Amino acid sequence: MKVTFFGIGYVGLVQATVFAEVGHEVVCVDIDEDKIARLNEGFIPIYEPGLEGMVRSNHTAGRLKFTNSMADGVAHGELLFIAVGTPPDEDGSADLKYILDVARSIGRHLTQPSIIVNKSTVPVGTADLVRAEIAAELQERGLNDIAFDVVSNPEFLKEGSAVADCTRPDRIVIGTNNPKTAAIMRELYAPFNRNHEKIILMDVRSAELTKYAANGMLATKISFMNEIAAIAEEVGADIESVRQGIGSDPRIGYHFIYAGAGYGGSCFPKDVRALIHTAANVNIDAQILKAVESRNKSQKQVLFQKIIQYFDDNIRGKVFAVWGLSFKPNTDDMREAPSRDLLEALWENGAVAQVYDPQAMDEAQRIYGSRDDFILCGTKEAALKNADALVVMTDWRVFKAPDFDVIKQMLKQPLIFDGRNLYEPDRLAQRGVTYVSIGRQVVPIC
Ligand SMILES: NC(=O)c1ccc[n+]([C@@H]2O[C@H](COP(=O)([O-])OP(=O)(O)OC[C@H]3O[C@@H](n4cnc5c(N)ncnc54)[C@H](O)[C@@H]3O)[C@@H](O)[C@H]2O)c1
Repeated sequence: MKVTFFGIGYVGLVQATVFAEVGHEVVCVDIDEDKIARLNEGFIPIYEPGLEGMVRSNHTAGRLKFTNSMADGVAHGELLFIAVGTPPDEDGSADLKYILDVARSIGRHLTQPSIIVNKSTVPVGTADLVRAEIAAELQERGLNDIAFDVVSNPEFLKEGSAVADCTRPDRIVIGTNNPKTAAIMRELYAPFNRNHEKIILMDVRSAELTKYAANGMLATKISFMNEIAAIAEEVGADIESVRQGIGSDPRIGYHFIYAGAGYGGSCFPKDVRALIHTAANVNIDAQILKAVESRNKSQKQVLFQKIIQYFDDNIRGKVFAVWGLSFKPNTDDMREAPSRDLLEALWENGAVAQVYDPQAMDEAQRIYGSRDDFILCGTKEAALKNADALVVMTDWRVFKAPDFDVIKQMLKQPLIFDGRNLYEPDRLAQRGVTYVSIGRQVVPIC
């Protein structure tokens, strides 16, 4: 089928590539000229496992094309996907300006019946706004008899496993009341729906709300565990034991119940805020979501509070090795990453950060590159050199079983602050390392 994607970011590029991989003919349109030029030269702008080779092979085969031309994009696709960003506006609501820009462009260039598929995460009612923008443009061109439909098809991929998630989705939510549109969407997704039925058909508004409800629920699980971790610390319990104890209940499950340095990324923070805003618009006080957001805000400061407390409120001139900058492993995305809160707090208090991340170094350079209290290191060991402590911020696999003798040798003192609870407190104490983590007791050095 002929498919066009508008917005070639984490969602657009991955889903477009996975569609091309199964044989659909896909055109990708983005307003970022540099990004499109580089994609056409074979440079992949984001890191996602398995993406690079798949983009290159489908581009070479001619099934995946990149352009800045809205007109070409609209002319190509029988299905026009909108996958642009929906960043938070100043009041926390989702800013729909990019979505509505695309809708107007579609309206300006549409000449054939089409289905507009909204893949971005958008508040309930956005499909109606998109429909109205396109209709207004068509009317201006005197083409109001061109039939088009607007579908909600939210994306549930996880950064870090986005290619696998799109290749083998656990669900495909399609929001439409139109059986003809539903049948076309089924045909598009048929290659991903062979093993068992994954398509969940519903009305447009329910599909729009489903995406926010999913992210709201996941964020709630994390904030809940962070709250239990705070209680555990004070009452002398161990959050890791508690986690296993409750995860064994199938109604709770083991997923997404890790205490840590708070959630980040481009989705949870903004989607929780946007849902709070949506609720307020219909006179509902989203008490749970507000608590989730507030717990997360304070959680992003918890590790720093432990650091500053350890150093008696004075870290001026101290050097911290920071392992992990991306908001989670297997991505280079640093949007709202807890590492940023930590770095900024360290700098505000006069400390220096020596950092290492397996993938986010370019992104870190782009964000903080000009600072002289920010030192990018080529290896995780180099980051340790003469540092006063190691701070772990992302649970990348390469940080999970480090050589603690090397850590002890390289640091000025054997001291680790762990925002991801990667290590065993008892074993580190046996090795003579002071280890401070989340929701667990500090075991004194034997
Ligand atoms: N990143 C995720 O893990 C994820 C997962 C599920 C859903 N989502 C949702 O998907 C949407 C996109 O997220 P993302 O992370 O891919 O965003 P992104 O910021 O990585 O990419 C958005 C792209 O859209 C482009 N763009 C902006 N205006 C445009 C226009 N008028 N025409 C064409 N291109 C335009 C930008 O240049 C950019 O390349 C958001 O609503 C997000 O909430 C994201």
